[in-house]
Amino acid sequence: MKIIPATSTADILCMEAAPDPCGLVIFGATGDLARRKLVPALFQLRLRDLLPKPFFLLGFARSLDGDDAFRDNLRHALGDAAAAHSAEADAFLANAYAAHGDYQDPEAYRRLATRAAELSTRHGTSGNLAFYTATPPDLHAVIAGQLAGAGLLRETAGAWRRMVFEKPFGRDRATAGALNRTLHRHLAESQIFRIDHYLGKETVQNLFMLRFANLIFEPVWNRDHIAHVQITAAETLGVEERAGYYDGAGAVRDMFQNHLFQILALTAMEPPGRFEAPLVLAEKRKVLHSIRPFFDGPGNDPAQAWVRGQYTAGAGLPGYRAEPGVPPDSRTETYAAGVFHIDNWRWSGVPFCLRSGKRLDRRRTEIAITFRPVPISVFPELRPEDLARNVLVLNIQPDEGIELTIQAKRPGPKLCMSALTLDVKYREVFKTASSDAYERLLLDVMLGDRTLFISADFIDAAWSLLDPVLNAWANDPDGKRFPLHPYAAGSPGPEAANTLPAAGPDFAWRET
Ligand code: BG6
Repeated sequence: MKIIPATSTADILCMEAAPDPCGLVIFGATGDLARRKLVPALFQLRLRDLLPKPFFLLGFARSLDGDDAFRDNLRHALGDAAAAHSAEADAFLANAYAAHGDYQDPEAYRRLATRAAELSTRHGTSGNLAFYTATPPDLHAVIAGQLAGAGLLRETAGAWRRMVFEKPFGRDRATAGALNRTLHRHLAESQIFRIDHYLGKETVQNLFMLRFANLIFEPVWNRDHIAHVQITAAETLGVEERAGYYDGAGAVRDMFQNHLFQILALTAMEPPGRFEAPLVLAEKRKVLHSIRPFFDGPGNDPAQAWVRGQYTAGAGLPGYRAEPGVPPDSRTETYAAGVFHIDNWRWSGVPFCLRSGKRLDRRRTEIAITFRPVPISVFPELRPEDLARNVLVLNIQPDEGIELTIQAKRPGPKLCMSALTLDVKYREVFKTASSDAYERLLLDVMLGDRTLFISADFIDAAWSLLDPVLNAWANDPDGKRFPLHPYAAGSPGPEAANTLPAAGPDFAWRET
């Protein structure tokens, strides 16, 4: 297939607005997230000429030894990019400053307020400030409270204040609700940007374009034409050095409550009236509110709809319980698969099957939409079910792109058919690597666009759905009703996940 990408600028429709001049304060400025993701993303935005003009970066950490040391630290974080664009890097670093102090100390925030005001005047950023919490989650509410105490979250007619929060957002409905209530004491919901980095991934955003900028998908995007939807987020990595966090979380809290639910909501939502935050967020929330709740008992029993697993040693890799920092008797799931039914007119009867695991045989995140069989076969020797179903696969990573499987005639004098996959890889078509999710999301924070962020009520609805499953698992310590299935590292996951009664008798995972 020859794909013709838009070549003239007239064919490419860009909807970029320029952000207001502003300052960005990063808490945890020397931490892993800041160094690996935030600072490189900001630099890429500068290289693409998308950073606000003017702009300054103010890093806050427990110990930061002055602006110069911080700039060295940042240059190191930029690595090859700084070496390849040294003049740009110098200019970027010249606008970076450091502040330090204890996160609990009001005096540190008073100093921060003075510094931010001085930099705002010096750079002419009109007092616009975004705060980013790249810190452990238990500090998020503390930082918001302290910023409010120092008057830093108060907006005035000419100056906005925004605050960005990283996941995890609570560990159940109660803790997430408590966190939201605390934040709402200091911030309006419109000032709060809860990040899910999956929403910044090119292919996740492309779901909007695919569904709502094309006519051909909408008429078939429903129960009449779609048999089931499978969403897979498979990782080859294990728990790495994150046992302290992960062992208290597990796959459902770590991947389902946020990333997988975001993908599910974008796949299943109704078209919003406009591509604007309140309308998009409302449609996404409606999807979660239509999902059939789980009950530990008859009805929508988690035992019929879920499988959990934990990796054991395999492929020369240690098992989860032998990973550094993991208790040897840990029962945390590193794999989960669950079936969701969306009880609304569009999706009734279409199972949405979600799975995610660590240490699997390959890394792949995808949405696979399998269509129903043709109603009758006009080919006398073939039954409708003999014809391979149409499958639309949206590859989120690592090979971003779209595949569509159709039936086609094989060349030759005889009437032979076979499945043919139309396969578009973005990298090949657009000849450019996708930008990092944080670039898009940081830009949106500065633009004040919350379309790709998570609302408080989405979080609440997500936990409401998952709490009964997590509680049922927690109340079954011996795994009698809900076994914790072992699977070897480097394998496709637990065998048991191939039978999920809630998905129907013909259920099978697509081979990825
Ligand atoms: C994070 C999870 O949110 O997402 C990790 O905490 C997971 O456990 C990661 O590995 C996956 O992100 P990505 O972008 O690599 O798919």
